[in-house]
Amino acid sequence: MRRLRPLLIFGTRPEAIKMAPVVHECLRRADSIEPIVCLTGQHREMLAQVTDYFGLSADLDLALMQPNQTLAELTARCFQGIDSALARFNPDCVVAQGDTTTVMVAALAAFYRRLPFVHVEAGLRTGNLQAPWPEEMNRRVASIVTTVHCAPTTRSADNLRAEHVPEQQIFVTGNTVIDALLWAVERERAGAARWQDKYARLGNGRVVLITGHRRENFGQGFQDICRAIATLADQFPDVQFLYPVHLNPNVQEPVRALLGNKPNVHLTEPAPYPEFVWLMDRSTLILTDSGGVQEEAPSLHKPILVMRETTERPEALDAGAVELVGTNVERIVESVSRLLTDKQEYARRQLDVNPYGDGQAARRIVDIMLQQGWNQ
Ligand code: UD1
Ligand code: UDP
Repeated sequence: MRRLRPLLIFGTRPEAIKMAPVVHECLRRADSIEPIVCLTGQHREMLAQVTDYFGLSADLDLALMQPNQTLAELTARCFQGIDSALARFNPDCVVAQGDTTTVMVAALAAFYRRLPFVHVEAGLRTGNLQAPWPEEMNRRVASIVTTVHCAPTTRSADNLRAEHVPEQQIFVTGNTVIDALLWAVERERAGAARWQDKYARLGNGRVVLITGHRRENFGQGFQDICRAIATLADQFPDVQFLYPVHLNPNVQEPVRALLGNKPNVHLTEPAPYPEFVWLMDRSTLILTDSGGVQEEAPSLHKPILVMRETTERPEALDAGAVELVGTNVERIVESVSRLLTDKQEYARRQLDVNPYGDGQAARRIVDIMLQQGWNQ
C-alpha cells in the first residue's frame, strides 16, 4: 500500500494552533503518510505567529488576506485558491479544522472534486445561525459534505447523530487544542523568565486577561465590552487588565479609542501563541468571546467569563468553569467583580479535568485517517 497523501488546509490563527498537532503527527509517521500543507492565508500576521512557533512549513501559501475583507470576497478567493490547490496536488483526502470561511470552502471544494473530507472539531452547535455568526453556518455546511467527523466530545458527537450523520462516520477524538496547549505550556513555563521580563509592568498582582473578536459583537457590543472594562479598571486599581487586541479593524478602532488611556489597562498587539499561553497561565481569570480560549482555560485551572449569549462548548459551562456574561455592561462588571472578591466562588470555578481533551487527539485522528483505505 502506498503512503496516504492528505491535503491539510488552514488559514487563521486558531486553525493553525489546532492543526499543528495533526501535521506533527503525520510527519512523525512519515513511513505511512505524506502530508501536504496548504495555507489559505485568510490571516496573515496572526497565522505567521503560529506557523513560526510550531515550525510548520507550507507546500503552498495562497496568501488570500486583504485588509477589512468581506465574507463574500474572502469566500470567492478561497474557492479559486483551494480548487487550484486540489488540482495541483491531487490528494487522497482533504483535512480542515473548525468553522472559519477557509474550512467551509475547503469542505465544499473537496466535495466538488469528489474527495473525502475529514472535519477536525466536528459537531459543535449552538442551534442559532446568528451566533456565532457566520461560524454556525460554516460548520453546518462543512458537516453536510464531511466523510469523517472527528468530534472532540461525546456531546458534539451526539449533535451529529441528531442530524442523522451515519454512526460509522462519527469518531470521538478529543480536541487537538489540548495537544498543542500541553506541549506549549511545558515549554513556556520552563522559559518563563523571558515573559516575566517582557511583562514586568504587570508586577506580581492579579491580572485579568481579555480577548474579543466575534463579528456579532461588532458595534454596540464592543462599545459595551469596553465600557465594562473601563469601569472595572477604575473599581480595581490594583488589578491589571491585559488585552491583546485582534487585528480586525472593527475591533482595533473601538478598543483603542475607548480603553487607550487607562493606567491599568494594557492594550497590546495579538500575542504570539507561546506568549499568550504564558499569559493565560499567569492570569487570575479570563474574559473572552473566543472559542479556543474557552477550551484551553480549564487545563490551566482558570475561570472564564464568556462575552456571548450562547456557546457551542457547553461542557465547561456545565462543569462550572464558564459563565456566559454576554456584552451587557452591568453583567460583565458584576461577574468579574464577584470572581475578584469571592474566593470560594473563584475556587468553585477551577476545574481539575479538562472536558475537551487529553492531549492525544491528533494521534487518534491520524489513526482514523489511515484506517479509511483511501490510499489503496
Ligand atoms: C476569523 C474567523 C473566525 C475566527 C477568527 C479567529 C471567519 C468568517 N472568521 O475572524 O471564525 O474565530 O478568524 O481569530 O472565518 N487581520 C489582519 N491580520 C491578520 C488577521 C486579520 O490584519 O493576521 C484583519 C484584516 O483586516 C482582515 C480582518 O482582520 O481583513 C478580518 O479577518 P477575517 O479572517 O476575515 O476575520 P476574523 O474576524 O479574523
Ligand atoms: N491566542 C493567541 N494570541 C492571542 C489571543 C489568542 O495565540 O493574542 C490563541 C489562543 O491561545 C487560542 C486561539 O488563539 O488557541 C484562539 O483564537 P481566536 O480567539 O482568535 O479564535 P477562535 O478560537 O474564537 O476561533
